[in-house]
Amino acid sequence: MKASSLFASLSVAAVLACGVAPVQAATATAVADPYPNACVSCHVVGKDKVDRRVGTMLKAWTAGKVDADLLAKTRAAMPAGVSVKGKHPSADDSLEDVPSLCLDCHTPDSKKAPPFARLMHLVHLTGAKNEFLTTHKGDCATCHKLDAKTGTWSLPSAAEQ
Ligand code: HEC
Ligand code: HEC
Ligand code: HEC
Repeated sequence: MKASSLFASLSVAAVLACGVAPVQAATATAVADPYPNACVSCHVVGKDKVDRRVGTMLKAWTAGKVDADLLAKTRAAMPAGVSVKGKHPSADDSLEDVPSLCLDCHTPDSKKAPPFARLMHLVHLTGAKNEFLTTHKGDCATCHKLDAKTGTWSLPSAAEQ
């Protein structure tokens, strides 16, 4: 995906989020956040018994099993000139604190790994029938949490469940 189309889809989502954010802030005390720890609150073994944990996905990527859609988004997010192997380096230790320890390698200026902001935005905010947007009605605030007292944003991080 071209950077320009990413910006286009991000700004559409941002406009939508701006429309709902004040409502959420006003009701924040009444409605509990279903995903307080972002990644690991949502990537769990579901009621349908499907295992969507980050550790389970990581096991597959480490074995060289990366599905075509994720591979395409990884290519789009890779640092210029770096090719995608389609096989993840071993990184089990990072499951103790997701995404903080993932970000040790997936830095904004990484020379080897796709920067996490780009990869995570592509994965969750783009693509037809993306379940993050459709099923979960996800938006920016599903991952980035606003402190309504101070106006600061943070990205929670925690151990896999
Ligand atoms: C509200 C729930 C939710 C949250 C929070 C969330 N995700 Fe996801 N994630 C999803 C859904 C749903 C998909 C599938 C998107 C699709 O339909 O393409 C997904 C897809 C992914 C994929 C791609 C899987 C694949 O094989 O294509 C990765 C990797 C991933 N998420 C990691 C993360 C990380 C890391 C975080 C925190 C920074 C995070 N997710 C936060 C729901 C969530
Ligand atoms: C030791 C460094 C390192 C750590 C730690 C790390 N990654 Fe990666 N990650 C990489 C590299 C390098 C690639 C590119 C692999 C390739 O070329 O396919 C990558 C690629 C990916 C991809 C694209 C799929 C693939 O395998 O190519 C996803 C998704 C991903 N990482 C998620 C994560 C998550 C989630 C965590 C934390 C639980 C994490 N990474 C921790 C280095 C790391
Ligand atoms: C699935 C989780 C997730 C969602 C949803 C998400 N982000 Fe992010 N965002 C991240 C992660 C992970 C980073 C990387 C943090 C880092 O590098 O320290 C990030 C970084 C950022 C950054 C700083 C880096 C950059 O690219 O400039 C901005 C700004 C940002 N996000 C805005 C948004 C906006 C606006 C939305 C909604 C349209 C959004 N994010 C939705 C996970 C998410």
